[in-house]
Amino acid sequence: MRRTSGLFTHSLFGPVLKIFFRDGKMPSLVNTEIEAAVKGFLIDQEKMTEVVERMTKEIKMGLAKDTHSRAVIKCFVSHVQDLPTGKERGKYLALDLGGSTFRVLLVNLLSEADVEIVSKSFNFPVTLMSGSGKALFDFLAECLSEFCHYHGLENESLPLGFTFSFPVQQQGLSKGILVAWTKGFSCEGVVGKNVVTLLQEAIDRRGDMKVNTVAILNDTVGTLMSCAFYHPNCRIGLIVGTGSNACYVEKTVNAECFEGYQTSPKPSMIINCEWGAFGDNGVLEFVRTTYDKIVDKVTPNPGKQTFEKCISGMYMGELVRLVVMDMVARDLMFHGTSSQKIQERWSFKSSYISDIESDAPGEYRSCNKVLSELGIVGCQEPDKEALRFICEAVSSRSAKLCACGLVTIINKMNINEVVIGIDGSVYRFHPKYHDLLQFHMKKLLKPGVKFELVVSEDGSGRGAALVAATAVKAKL
Ligand code: GLC
Repeated sequence: MRRTSGLFTHSLFGPVLKIFFRDGKMPSLVNTEIEAAVKGFLIDQEKMTEVVERMTKEIKMGLAKDTHSRAVIKCFVSHVQDLPTGKERGKYLALDLGGSTFRVLLVNLLSEADVEIVSKSFNFPVTLMSGSGKALFDFLAECLSEFCHYHGLENESLPLGFTFSFPVQQQGLSKGILVAWTKGFSCEGVVGKNVVTLLQEAIDRRGDMKVNTVAILNDTVGTLMSCAFYHPNCRIGLIVGTGSNACYVEKTVNAECFEGYQTSPKPSMIINCEWGAFGDNGVLEFVRTTYDKIVDKVTPNPGKQTFEKCISGMYMGELVRLVVMDMVARDLMFHGTSSQKIQERWSFKSSYISDIESDAPGEYRSCNKVLSELGIVGCQEPDKEALRFICEAVSSRSAKLCACGLVTIINKMNINEVVIGIDGSVYRFHPKYHDLLQFHMKKLLKPGVKFELVVSEDGSGRGAALVAATAVKAKL
């Protein structure tokens, strides 16, 4: 990654792009009223510093025993105390629920250099997201059974790591109570229950495989573990996808909600921050806009996951759509008319933001494609510039807030060098996200602190297998 003034060279996703950070500076074709409308998304250095300060306080509250119950950033203990050594071996199954797809994986840790992963993504019916818990877990077991039979694994007693990417209060590696649903899920009868039991019961009900669920983990933890397998200095796992969250390696003595925090012989513990809930107590109002408030109201969990709703892929597209609709209503875009499609909630996918921002300045190839998918015709160049400007405002704020979160964690860890393993569709596919994150982190961090942002492959596969391996070893 090389940097010249204002222009960044980014080579992560194929072709090298020259990127200019406009950071809210208005391109000449964009109307000043549109600029005023997106102003709320532009957070300056002073506000970012304030976010870091407030988040530091909340993380400390989550970790401490006497403030944990009223803390919004819960800082759940993951019970994962060993980072991978690279010597883990064996065959494991994994389930991955909570991102854009539901997957079943078979992971064979053959050697450090040779990890075989076979996986299958299943169509996840949307109706399951709000149905009964039993229907959900029966579906997971059915997909697992189909996968095991296809690969001839039905008679093997394989350990399974369950990547379940929701706020879970873990009471051990294989016991986790769902605290609340996030990301549009609201299945009945699961909150307050041990999800490992619910999954295992569904598997056992079928009676057609010998799988044993040995570990439950958050996707951030899988991401950290997977990255640490190759980068021993990895201490933070970050997801910027459908949702957003991070985990990090804390000193065991600081993980007060872990029963053995004073006596454990192991020096560290991975903490699942659940940072998405930051701001649920009102401390983030100074970076929220009226559009954020509208998005929040139409989600199944209003008032919850405030930080996540400013950052992640599930909400970014809707934020852009709301600004655009407002501009159309005020006759500032598209000649005051839109299409049926764009009037529908959630019709503006977050991937459109990545597409639109991938166009070189002054070119509109991807933008035209998005507009045509949305049924918007007859747009002029100023409309396209305005659309891009709105996308940039939303994605830059996301990257800035994420940078604040990472800086908070690095400061809390008080280390001078760290690798951060990252996964999620926003980070992977947005053409500037990596550079924006890096740029703002550098501005916020103390001089001399070195960090590296690394795409972490297969957190929910290799990461889940590594946690399952730890669980199996602990039981021996
Ligand atoms: C949501 C979940 C969290 C997960 C994140 C990323 O914030 O609550 O557990 O890690 O999404 O998938």
